[in-house]
Amino acid sequence: MKHLLKLGDLTPQEITDILNLADQLKYEKAHGFASQPLKGKTLGMIFQKSSTRTRVSFEVGMYELGGYALFLSNRDLQIGRGEPVQDTARVLSRYLDGIMIRTFEQKEVEDLAKYGSIPIINGLTDYAHPCQVLADLMTIREHKKTLKGLKLCFIGDGNNMANSLIVGGIKMGMKVAIACPDNYQPDAEIMKWARENGDFTCTSDVMEAAKGADAIYTDVWASMGQEGEAAERRKAFEGVYQVNDEVMAVANAGCMVMHCLPAHRGEEITDSVFEAHANEIFDEAENRLHAQKAVLVKLMKG
Ligand code: CP
Ligand code: NVA
Repeated sequence: MKHLLKLGDLTPQEITDILNLADQLKYEKAHGFASQPLKGKTLGMIFQKSSTRTRVSFEVGMYELGGYALFLSNRDLQIGRGEPVQDTARVLSRYLDGIMIRTFEQKEVEDLAKYGSIPIINGLTDYAHPCQVLADLMTIREHKKTLKGLKLCFIGDGNNMANSLIVGGIKMGMKVAIACPDNYQPDAEIMKWARENGDFTCTSDVMEAAKGADAIYTDVWASMGQEGEAAERRKAFEGVYQVNDEVMAVANAGCMVMHCLPAHRGEEITDSVFEAHANEIFDEAENRLHAQKAVLVKLMKG
């Protein structure tokens, strides 16, 4: 594994290895004997979109591993004024040991990897959010003790989260069911791959997708960059694509509720369901730190 551009590039064994190392790093931190395998290493973090969790967990993660992280905002970098990604990649490769990038187009992340000579980590694109899903899988495994055979249901927009959950879930032997409006389905190629490689369904019927679920996941109706479509999207999702008590009633007993955050209470999830499952949702947020530390060690430890 040279980069983390999307989960489709990883084998099930590589995902399992990351989850195992993440569990170990979490245990070591809790017991006060953490080592510093990235001493002297630097990670550049390019942000073309806002972030709370990704920025803080990567920065703290590098610090805890003995390394250093630089926050590089698009507003300040020359890339924001049009310097080609091919040149940025080659320049930054001379200074840094790794780059985490959050941007719009998946191609930009792939190009950084193509032209640079250091590990590249996708910190969210319009297409994928692999770091989030590694933390999600870690959290489900932590709570349920297994992944294989569990039903993962995603309710909402067929966005970057849906795409990465489908790939991560299917690779780990989960059943994946998506409920979304017909015009807001996940990536067509990802869905084709999922149907050919596992137990995958996509429906507009929320109850059908949620029935017998072991984990129900949701995300905002309008992602970063889609603010202009918010009103139109609200019409397509409101009143139907929401995790609420009625939806939870058809899931399995002990069904987890997950959200990558930030959440819009009263839209994709009710306040009462969110608060009843806050423990799972904030374990999930915490696990971003541990899962990403595992990724950083796998990619950047000499
Ligand atoms: N879930 C997630 O990636 O959060 P941020 O946008 O705050 O980084
Ligand atoms: N789908 C959301 C995820 C945020 C972590 C977005 O892209 O804005």
